[in-house]
Amino acid sequence: MTLLKIQNMMSNELSKRAFLSRPPEPPHEFLLNDPTDSIFIGITKLFGVPFTWTYANVTNPHIAVVGITGSGKSFFVKTFLLRASYVWNTNAIIIDWAGEYKGWVKQSGGTVVSLGKGDYINILDLSGMKPLDRAKQISNALDILTDITDFPEQRRLTVEAIEQAYVNFGFAMASTPDPNRDAPTLKDVTKLLEEKLQEGTYQYPAELENAIYRLRQFSREGEDYFARKSTIDIGKLSSSGLVDLDLSGLPDEKFRALAALFILQTLKEKMRVEGWSASKGIKALVVLDEAWKIASDERSDAITIIREGRKYQFGLIVASQNPTDVNETIFSNVGTTIMLRVRFEKFISYLQGSLNFSNFMRSEISKFGVGQAAIDMSFQTSVQFPNVFILDRIVGEIPLDVYTLTVADILNDNELADKSIPRDYSFEKIDLNSRFVQMNLASDTITKLFAALDSKNRIVDMRMLVQIFLKENVNKETILIFMRSIGLPDTIISRALIIK
Ligand SMILES: Nc1ncnc2c1ncn2[C@@H]1O[C@H](COP(=O)(O)OP(=O)(O)OP(=O)(O)O)[C@@H](O)[C@H]1O
Ligand SMILES: [Mg+2]
Repeated sequence: MTLLKIQNMMSNELSKRAFLSRPPEPPHEFLLNDPTDSIFIGITKLFGVPFTWTYANVTNPHIAVVGITGSGKSFFVKTFLLRASYVWNTNAIIIDWAGEYKGWVKQSGGTVVSLGKGDYINILDLSGMKPLDRAKQISNALDILTDITDFPEQRRLTVEAIEQAYVNFGFAMASTPDPNRDAPTLKDVTKLLEEKLQEGTYQYPAELENAIYRLRQFSREGEDYFARKSTIDIGKLSSSGLVDLDLSGLPDEKFRALAALFILQTLKEKMRVEGWSASKGIKALVVLDEAWKIASDERSDAITIIREGRKYQFGLIVASQNPTDVNETIFSNVGTTIMLRVRFEKFISYLQGSLNFSNFMRSEISKFGVGQAAIDMSFQTSVQFPNVFILDRIVGEIPLDVYTLTVADILNDNELADKSIPRDYSFEKIDLNSRFVQMNLASDTITKLFAALDSKNRIVDMRMLVQIFLKENVNKETILIFMRSIGLPDTIISRALIIK
């Protein structure tokens, strides 16, 4: 009897102590921060506390976002970038693998750079860097993207030709370049190798041929996305507000990865050169969404930014459906991990192993609805409470339904060269709907048109749009009226309407 009582008492005591010493949410002072120096994310599930995020109390400004498709990764990223720009004037560069941020960036007044659809990057551009450093970076990118490391002689020939091209264009390898001087392109580099081959004096012509072949992949007419004069000022990317680097128009993963690596290299360099300033907040955020090749390779500058970003007020946000695609160095150096719904056991196990949360949390994560999230924070001070807590929902800006029409597919070369001709038109749903109504379309036709546009992720090019209209039996005169109403000139419209 007495014994039983004591046992009861003890277990009561124990459970109470366990609760008091390990409460299930961080205390308010960690969740609620100065609103002029933090970003509102959402309301905690248990105690309903508004959670605001600040770089100031975590080990690193970098953020990992994981979750299955449709769980809300991009929604979180957009919300975060917008609020960071309000609060800290933070610049953002989105390395947009699938072009999924494009419509939103347009809508938000940002800049969209569409590689492969009218925009070019010359990867030999220096934007203030010494030619020697740029040459090293290019060979580093080739190391990651091609098999060149297995062929040291070809690698040597390539680097030598890059350096020679700079010298031929009047640059000194180890000096800060004259900003008014044009850089050579990969075509000039390839030409140097071709000339060397033609001279016929080089000992290993096969090596030379292979080096040429490898470079031609990136300099061939029509696929010379990185071997022409740049159409954007790369040096200004990290100080231009919100920039979407849309890579979806490039033909394959290799080209996308080259663009991403090049941009990261340039941003890293910029970050180091600009140095630390004592200003408040985060200067720039770089977003890598589903860029697994870039996020997983130890040699990519995503790793350098992760390692050095904090002192330069540079943050990296990595979003992925598959946490095991993200390099361990990235995972162990982010200050914040946002876990949206994760379904695969092995992915949850990976997260649980590295973040060390309870089995209760584990089962919650697998059941989350859209926008629900578990947050892990690595606080700077050692804390006596669990690092992982649940947000009832990530509270975003009211999402605007934005539809984007891209027209680059029907522009000819002259029109593409003319920067005053827009390449995209964005409409809010409500606006597009009223245009359809003005075209006298029946309401079920309008419903079907929206369904077709939604199935294309709300971004269509002209050919696609014309097909969608024709499929719903909208006649060409009506399509013409629509296209005129958005401001397209008749020459371009007629070209679009010839397409079957
Ligand atoms: N917190 C939220 N509140 C309201 N709506 C949300 C929220 N999170 C996501 N959504 C909506 O859910 C849909 C899917 O979200 P989102 O595109 O962010 O998913 P994702 O994780 O990026 O998917 P994917 O891996 O396919 O890119 C979108 O229409 C988005 O507007
Ligand atoms: Mg997404």
